[in-house]
Amino acid sequence: MELGKIVYKGKTKKGLKIIIRYPVKGDVEMLLKYINTLSKECTFITFQGEQLTLEEEKKYSDNFIEKIEKDLAVKLLVFTTNKLIAVSDIAPSDKIESHIGTFGITVANEYRNQGIGKLLTELVLDEAKKNLKQLRIVKLGVFVNNPIAKIMYEKFGFIQYGNLPEGVKHKSKYVNHLYMYKKIR
Ligand SMILES: CC(C)(COP(=O)(O)OP(=O)(O)OC[C@H]1O[C@@H](n2cnc3c(N)ncnc32)[C@H](O)[C@@H]1OP(=O)(O)O)[C@@H](O)C(=O)NCCC(=O)NCCS
Repeated sequence: MELGKIVYKGKTKKGLKIIIRYPVKGDVEMLLKYINTLSKECTFITFQGEQLTLEEEKKYSDNFIEKIEKDLAVKLLVFTTNKLIAVSDIAPSDKIESHIGTFGITVANEYRNQGIGKLLTELVLDEAKKNLKQLRIVKLGVFVNNPIAKIMYEKFGFIQYGNLPEGVKHKSKYVNHLYMYKKIR
């Protein structure tokens, strides 16, 4: 897929102008600031306060961009007047699981609950279906104490297939980690 390609231009439910596009290499600093802010929030994601360095983010980001260029992965970024406000992606597994992709999504705190998550999920799933020819299953993990995300995934047809009791540590408590999947072809 072509880096930087714009897939959506429009307004959110609250009238905020947004652009949704594939990443380019030059986004790395914005991505670093974005993930480090989310990490500090200790929301329902892997990072719980840790701060990544530019070098770490660049390594991760360059690797992901290579996969996008080979049509093995999808990543979309949401911007409002040049500010990065949401990210979603589908990262491929390999070997005997190369038909499976892992879905992830975050919306910056002050931009939640105005339809961005739903729009972005729809676009990422569409892009994946169109471009990732080997993809058959999209899977994800969601903390049990994150019903907003779980309900959103159910609306997209994701089905729970597992529950690892106390599978993640969130805000110093062990909480169950739920696993969901959706067949896309
Ligand atoms: C989960 C997340 C991506 C949803 O994005 P969002 O832009 O806030 O969601 P939307 O406004 O598009 O709403 C999508 C659905 O989520 C649910 N939802 C969103 N905000 C809600 C709220 N405050 N209360 C209840 N349900 C809510 C609704 O089901 C909604 O669908 P509807 O509009 O048909 O009612 C976002 O809340 C987020 O980034 N959270 C922190 C990180 C995270 O949890 N990531 C997912 C890890 S698995």
